[in-house]
Amino acid sequence: MSGTLLFSPMTIRGLELKNRIVVPPMHQYSAVKGFPTDWHLMNAGKFAAGGAGLVVVESTKVERRGCGTVGDLGIWDDKFIEPLSRLVKFIKQQNSVPGIQLGHSGRKARARRPWEGDGPLARTDEIDDWDEWTPVAPSAIAHSEKWPVPRALERGEVKDLVQAWGQAARRAHEAGFEMLELHGAHGYLVHEFLSERSNQRTDEYGGSEEGRMRFIIEVAEAVRGHWPDHKPLFVRLSVEDNAGWGPEQSAKLARILKAKGVDAIDCSSGGITDAAPILGKEIKYSYQVPLSEYVRTHADIMTMAVGLIIHGDQAEQILRDKQADLIAVGREILNNPNWPMDAALKLGVDGPFRNVPPQFGYWLGTRAKRGFGTKPSTWQNGLNAPGEVS
Ligand SMILES: Cc1cc2nc3c(=O)[nH]c(=O)nc-3n(C[C@H](O)[C@H](O)[C@H](O)COP(=O)(O)O)c2cc1C
Repeated sequence: MSGTLLFSPMTIRGLELKNRIVVPPMHQYSAVKGFPTDWHLMNAGKFAAGGAGLVVVESTKVERRGCGTVGDLGIWDDKFIEPLSRLVKFIKQQNSVPGIQLGHSGRKARARRPWEGDGPLARTDEIDDWDEWTPVAPSAIAHSEKWPVPRALERGEVKDLVQAWGQAARRAHEAGFEMLELHGAHGYLVHEFLSERSNQRTDEYGGSEEGRMRFIIEVAEAVRGHWPDHKPLFVRLSVEDNAGWGPEQSAKLARILKAKGVDAIDCSSGGITDAAPILGKEIKYSYQVPLSEYVRTHADIMTMAVGLIIHGDQAEQILRDKQADLIAVGREILNNPNWPMDAALKLGVDGPFRNVPPQFGYWLGTRAKRGFGTKPSTWQNGLNAPGEVS
């Protein structure tokens, strides 16, 4: 297949993407007091070198209280700008685009790392600011029985938080990121404001749907105010949360956000209850793609599809069917950071190794000219298949 959509370039505002493949934000739980480590450089670097058009750094917290685990990345102070810029530079050097997701864990803050058992963290002397790290939320309602009851944010604190998102966007810009995503999904703070289940406020940030949307809209405005016009802004939503918030509300919100300068909705699901499909039940290939299609159609906004998109032809079909504009490949790119190269080969894209840095792209390209490594399992014949790839 030549002339794929997956490998066609795209322009969003002033940003040029070389293809439609996005590495979505994925927590590494490996920061030290909010600072990135060599792990983050290696992690972002390998995806960038693997040929993805856009690499989005994990949910990076806009305030200390918003950290999900001891290993969350932070951006609540200017001291984070320089260390984050190291990731930015490295991603750019690999001819990819660095993005960042800004987040706040809300009532799901102060948790264990998933591989240490998930759920709330038990009090430990190792954390020297335990009390400052108290989980906060729109209302004093626990996520589930096993989670602590969060402290309800005072009205003034909500206003301060809006500003904290704006300041975080400024820092992300100063660090050199070129795309920014607001984390409005997965049962974290922004989503907690949207959901009736977690938001029972009686001030202007609660009550009606309009009231519950106020926080995310103000956050988007504050971020846009500090994020230059030429840089794209995405919002990740749980388009369906299985608890009262669904595609209709998401499309309505997306239309409002678009008018505030949001360029694309990253369409995820779940997280406000423990029974949500995200990374859990009801999983099948492309399970969230219909949500992306719905928002794209009903809100007339670009969307990114994510969730069990594993194969190149699967990704290509989603684009051809106009169900999304961008494709995020999460766990599969953990399995194979060179997924874009692999997809290019399988889709028959001309010059599949042109997408990656010459340190290995050059050698793979010259090998391919001799016909090796471009088709599965011809090695038994001891023969090559010359001329497949130019
Ligand atoms: C290790 C890991 C960390 C994740 N961290 C984040 C995150 O920081 N922000 C976010 O919005 N989603 C996060 N997710 C969800 C992914 O971005 C993605 O939506 C999800 O894995 C589904 O896509 P996939 O089936 O391609 O993996 C994480 C997923 C994984 C596996």
